[in-house]
Amino acid sequence: MRKINIGIIGFGNVGSGVIKILQEKKSILREKTGLEINIKKVCDKDILSKRNVNIDRKLLTKEVRAVTCDPQIDVVVELVGGISPAKEFIMEALANGKSVVTANKLLLARQGRELFSYARDRAKSIYFEASVGGGIPIIKSLREGLVANSFASIFGIVNGTSNFILSRMSLHNCSFNEALKEAKQKGFAEKDPTLDLEGLDSAHKLILLVYLGFGKLVALNDVFVEGISKISLADVNYAKEMGFEIKLLAIAKKESDQLEVRVHPTLITKGHLLASVGGVFNAIYVSSDFAGNLLFYGPGAGQLSAASAVVSDLVDLAQDIKAGLFRSALNICEDREIRRLRKIDDIEGRYYIRFMAYDQPGVLAKISGILAKFNISIASVTQKEHGKEKIVPIVMITHGAKEKQLRSALAMIDRLGVIKQDAVAIRIEEV
Ligand code: HSE
Repeated sequence: MRKINIGIIGFGNVGSGVIKILQEKKSILREKTGLEINIKKVCDKDILSKRNVNIDRKLLTKEVRAVTCDPQIDVVVELVGGISPAKEFIMEALANGKSVVTANKLLLARQGRELFSYARDRAKSIYFEASVGGGIPIIKSLREGLVANSFASIFGIVNGTSNFILSRMSLHNCSFNEALKEAKQKGFAEKDPTLDLEGLDSAHKLILLVYLGFGKLVALNDVFVEGISKISLADVNYAKEMGFEIKLLAIAKKESDQLEVRVHPTLITKGHLLASVGGVFNAIYVSSDFAGNLLFYGPGAGQLSAASAVVSDLVDLAQDIKAGLFRSALNICEDREIRRLRKIDDIEGRYYIRFMAYDQPGVLAKISGILAKFNISIASVTQKEHGKEKIVPIVMITHGAKEKQLRSALAMIDRLGVIKQDAVAIRIEEV
C-alpha cells in the first residue's frame, strides 16, 4: 500500500487533534483511500509537555528543517499560525517539493498571492480547509461540490467569538462587556480578542471564500471591515422589537459587474436561517445559479473539528500524490463578469438608525428634513419614552439609501444642537 509521509509543524491543540484522528481512524482511512497516511515527524518548540495523544517520542523534534527538508516527507502540515515564521516554514517546504496543508487564514489572506504562486510554480498545492468554518467542508464544497456553479453572494457568520457575544446579548439581555467576559470564562474568546471582535478574523476568512467563489484574491485593504465592539444592548433589543437579529456578517455580493466585499454588524430578519445561528456556531449561506441557496452550518472552531478539516486535506493530497498528478487543486477560475470592487460609499441598502435626541417640539422634523435632503426615505420610526434627562432614543428603519448619502446626512444631523450623541447606523441586509 502506498504510504504518504507527513510532517506536522505545531504540536498544539489542532496538531494533537490531527494525530488523534489519524491514529483512531487509521484503518478506516486506509480502507477508504487505499493509502496509508504516516506521521513521520512532529515539530514544536515544546516537545516535553504532555498532550492528550500518545506518540512515539522519536518522532518529535524541535528542528523545523527536520520536517521541511526531510526528503521522505510528502506533505507538511503548518499549524503554527501568524505570519512569521509560518510563512518561511511553508515556503521552505514548497521549495523542497512538498505540498502544504494549513489552517492559517491570516497568512493566506494577507500573503496568499505570493504563497499560492510560489506553490503553483513548483507544481505543489496549498490546502486550507481548516482555515474557514472549522470542520464545515465549505472550501471543498465551493471548489468541488459546486464546481459547476457561479455565485451571486456568500454570507458568512464565520467568527464564533463574535457570534457568541451577539447571541448572548440577544438571548440573555446582557451587555457587550458581560457577554465578552462570559466568552473568556468559557474559553471561547482569546486573551486578546481584537482580531475576532474588530472583524479582522472574519475578513481573513471572507478573502478566502471570495477567492474560491469568485476567483479573486482581494487585498485586506479592499475589504470594508467593522467589528461588533460598538454594538450596544439597546440596539440589539430595538432591532429585535423590529423583527431583526444583529449578526456579524462576512458578505460577498455580486451587483452587476461589481463585487462587494465587506464585514460588519448586520440586521437580518429573524425568519432567516442565519438569524438562528447561535453561540459559537458558524454558518455560510451561498447563493448559486444551479444548486440554489445552500446553508453550511456547524462548529466553527475546536480541536477536533479543525483537525477533521486538516485530515480531509491530507486525504485529498495523498490521493493526488498516489495518482501522480498535480491538480490545479483549488479550481480557481476568475468570474470575468466582475470588473471592479464596489466601494463601501457606493453600496445601497436599508439602514437601522438610532438617534439620541432631546425630547422637544420639531426634533423629528429637523431629522427627517435632513434625511429628505439627502434623498433618504424613512420606512418606520419609533420614539421611546425618555428618562429623567429628557433624552429619547429615536429609532428608524430607512428605505434603500446610498451609504455615502447616509453618512453625509448623519454627519449633519449629529451637529444639530438637539442631538445628544452621534447617531448609530447599522446596515440591514436582505439575505
Ligand atoms: N477565533 C476564531 C473564532 C476561531 O472565534 O471563530 C478560529 O477561526
